[in-house]
Parts: sequence; structure tokens; C-alpha cells
Amino acid sequence: MRICIAGGAGYIGSHVVRRLLDGGHDIVVLDNLATGHRESIPSQAEFVHGDVGDPLVARKALAGCDALVYLAAWKAAGESMTDPFKYSRNNLVNTLAFLDAAHDQGVKHVVFSSSAAVFGAPKSLPIDEDHPKDPENYYGFTKLEIERVLAWYDKLGAMDSACLRYFNAAGYDPEGRCIGLERNPANLIPVVMEVACGMRKEVQIFGSDYDTPDGTGVRDYIHVTDLAEAHALALDHLHAGKGSFVVNLGTGEGQSVLEVVKQTELVVGRPVAHRIVGRRAGDPSSLWASGAKARELLGWVPKHSDLRKILETTWKAYQANGLG
Ligand code: WQD
Repeated sequence: MRICIAGGAGYIGSHVVRRLLDGGHDIVVLDNLATGHRESIPSQAEFVHGDVGDPLVARKALAGCDALVYLAAWKAAGESMTDPFKYSRNNLVNTLAFLDAAHDQGVKHVVFSSSAAVFGAPKSLPIDEDHPKDPENYYGFTKLEIERVLAWYDKLGAMDSACLRYFNAAGYDPEGRCIGLERNPANLIPVVMEVACGMRKEVQIFGSDYDTPDGTGVRDYIHVTDLAEAHALALDHLHAGKGSFVVNLGTGEGQSVLEVVKQTELVVGRPVAHRIVGRRAGDPSSLWASGAKARELLGWVPKHSDLRKILETTWKAYQANGLG
């Protein structure tokens, strides 16, 4: 297939690009490099530099494509609460315009990056696809809205789609081919790595009084290579005419903040300074996915997502950037 990957220079996007090139597809990467890296785009992929909201750029990137993988969105949940219009512009307006352009160009299949943030505070664990959707931040709302639009486009025969709800994406390509680091990260694992490298003084652990075994927050960390595999399987599923779907992508297991810090110390071979501070607003105590539907529908089984491997591959990416 010829596939346009919007946001293909970013952290998750660059891993998806590699996986789909490995699968023999023709890839066009569209990215404005606001958060992605030019060096993350392999030479075998075509590159269109520009904004998803620019109609000429969109037409150029989508021409002749059978499918679209859409990862071009802002993703900082906290920021979405203080600058919602930024999220409306990109995650809603530009996304809808781009889907419109994709339809004009005859694109039939869309794989959309969604998020565990569509669920809000968990009412039961593990979180399956039918769990109530009640986003607690505006970012999660934007993802849910696009999921709903895609459900309508499917119903109206415009295009079919796969909405992939990522839990906590982490890790780097085990073969060391993708090493683009996120700038000013706020997520736990890159923060811990920056402390291990001496780029930050300490990890602030947001709360140790949660109802979890060690009192710190528990999340479902899923290796980005496993996420990339799910995109390939989703495209195969759509291309085979098996119809639209929505799935959660997680391991079904949770790890605490303290476990992440302790395991990192073992991986990097030095202490990682950390200090307990107050809870971060909006953080649920525990969050993990049911992977049952992705397994049944796509045959997707995470292979790289044990915490040790996530941390080892991440540390290698930091070292490959001359850090650590
Ligand atoms: C993980 C755990 C924190 C930083 C976010 C988005 C979500 C999804 C995944 C994209 C929590 C704790 C963190 C730190 C800490 N993204 N923590 N100190 O909040 O689970 O999810 O990324 O769709 O939508 O909200 O990820 O990595 O920020 O936090 O103690 O400096 O680490 O409290 O328990 P989160 P995270």
C-alpha cells in the first residue's frame, strides 16, 4: 500500500514509519517538525514538510495514497487545560480538514492515534473498550471527538478506520534505528532518564499515598515497537475489508512510579535521585488496559513491553544521543 503518515517524524510516528517500511509499503511522511526530528525520517520514505492544516501540503502528501496513519496532534494533557484553543485548532480543526483532504484524494483507510485519555478516571480495571468515556482533560476530549467523527464517516460509507487507544507509550526501537528524543518531556520515563543523565536534578514523584501496593501511581507502559506492530496489523485488517474498529493497546499489567525508578537504577547502574512531592492534578491512581480485544481481533500480542526492555531500549537511545 501507499500510506501517508502524518506526524511520522515524531516519537511514535518514526517507529510506525520503520515498521511499515519493513512491511514493504510505500511511505510518505508529512510533518512540520514542530516536535519531530528530520533525522528520524528514513531515506526510503518520501518526506513532505508542512502543516496538516495547509490544503496544498495535504493534497501533496495524500496524492495516490490508499491509507492514512494520523499521528499529527498535540498530546500534553496538562497544556490542553490551559491552552484549549491550541488543541481545538490542531487536534480538531486541522484533523477534520485533513480527513476531508484524504477523502478528496480517495483514501479509503484511516488509522487514528487515540488515547487512554478518552476514558478519564477509571471506574473499573482493566479498562476494556466498553468502559465509559468521560475524558478529564481537553486533550482526551479532542481524541474522543475524532473517534466519533470517524465512526460516522464509516457509517456513511466515506472511509473505514481503526482507532488505536494507546496507554503509556514508552521504549525505543530495539535495533537502535529510531533515537529521536522528545524535547522537554513531561512523561515519567523520559524524565527519569534525564535525571539518570544528569540533565535534571531529581525525579519528582507525584504522590505516595495512592491506593496502590507502594502508594505511587500505577500505569500500563507499552513498548512503542509493539504499538507500531499494531498499526501494521490494523492496516492489514482494514485493507482485507474486515471493517472499522476501536481497540485499547496496553499490556494488561501496571507498574508503579517507584518500580520504574528502581528498575532504571538497575539498568543505568547508578542511583536516580527522587523525591516524593504532592499529587499532580487529574492523575488517577491506577490505569491499565485489557488487551483482549486487540489480541482477538488483530492477533496482537505485545512482545517488547516488559519494563526492563522498555528501560534498556530507552537508555540506549539516550546514549546514542551522546547522553548518559
Ligand atoms: C505516569 C505516572 C504520574 C512524571 C499521559 C497522558 C495520557 C497518555 C500517556 C497520550 C503517573 C507519574 C510522572 C513525573 C511522576 N498520552 N509521574 N513524576 O499521565 O499516565 O499519561 O501519557 O495519549 O493521555 O496524560 O503519563 O508519564 O505523565 O505519568 O511521578 O515527573 O508517573 O503521576 O502516575 P500519564 P505520565
